[in-house]
Amino acid sequence: MPRKHLRQLLRLWPFRMIIRGRRRLDGATKRARTLETEWHRHPVMVKRRTAFGRLVAAASNLYFRLAGLPIWMCDHNRCWQRWEVGCFRLLNPGFRAFALGRRTICIAKLPGESLWAHLRRGTLNHRMIKAAAREFRRAHQLHCETLAGPWSHGDACTENVLYDPATDRARFIDFEFLHDKGLPPETRHADDLLIFTLDLMSVSPGDRWLPLTLTFLRTYGDPSVIAELRKRLSPPRGAQRIWWRVRTRFVRPQTVNRFLHQLAQAIDQGVLTAPEPAELPESPSPRRHRRRHSATFHTTSPGTPNASSRTRRIKASAIAVPGSIPSSRPTTR
Ligand SMILES: Nc1ncnc2c1ncn2[C@@H]1O[C@H](COP(=O)(O)OP(=O)(O)O)[C@@H](O)[C@H]1O
Ligand SMILES: [Mg+2]
Repeated sequence: MPRKHLRQLLRLWPFRMIIRGRRRLDGATKRARTLETEWHRHPVMVKRRTAFGRLVAAASNLYFRLAGLPIWMCDHNRCWQRWEVGCFRLLNPGFRAFALGRRTICIAKLPGESLWAHLRRGTLNHRMIKAAAREFRRAHQLHCETLAGPWSHGDACTENVLYDPATDRARFIDFEFLHDKGLPPETRHADDLLIFTLDLMSVSPGDRWLPLTLTFLRTYGDPSVIAELRKRLSPPRGAQRIWWRVRTRFVRPQTVNRFLHQLAQAIDQGVLTAPEPAELPESPSPRRHRRRHSATFHTTSPGTPNASSRTRRIKASAIAVPGSIPSSRPTTR
């Protein structure tokens, strides 16, 4: 091997080791792996908890307890399987879901794409947001035995909401978190709304987050839950700030605080109870062009100067003799 190539290889070697090591670690630290496959010719998602998954869940739960956060993640695999399959069946009757072995579940593939994907691409619109709000409202009215009351998600971020344009329906996926049973339903529901709203704030381009959020809350439309949400529109203190940073996708805290203040102001001013404003076009309107006269196929009416007459006038003025000399010959009588 030429010496030059050998030197290059040696120089790159440590970096390749680091990159490979990081990739391996990324794979290992994932809580669960989800694969799309077929089950008796039906498209399904097979989700398998990694060996690391239980450890992550246990460590997260320790942090939640110490920070005083009223959520927890299913750590025991059996408990996770029961919760994930149970929620999926409750919310999506007609779609299959079951546990496979000790740390795998198999659930029907739901149509559509996650709102997170739309959010990242900038294609999230009011129609999708309204569908999501309707699903939040519907799901929050279902009775859940585990929570001994109305159901709540616990991790209702945009990644876990799929939207199907064909039926204009949104659906929840990914049930690994649970709210504390002891919390009143309004508090649990307000937490779901907050998590979804924080995603809109953190990722929507420009100022689009506010109209989208207002549409979401207006469509959800439960005043007691929105009142509860209003109380929570301020950043937490202490150890809860770590989770808050995760929830706000590590966006600058000053920016998030400004947005929270804007939303609180809008709610206080009664924007949600005011009649819904006329819908704006979802996509940016096409640029307006100033109409110009066609130089070629322009219809003319009598008196409209046309190219040839103008040319004639210019020519005539160019060859015109000074005014003192008459343009026509003297006439003879
Ligand atoms: N039932 C489903 N139908 C369609 N896609 C799904 C379904 N469940 C999961 N997915 C896809 O797999 C991804 C990861 O699944 P999820 O249950 O959210 O696991 P994770 O805990 O890794 O977030 C989702 O973002 C979604 O794109
Ligand atoms: Mg998920």
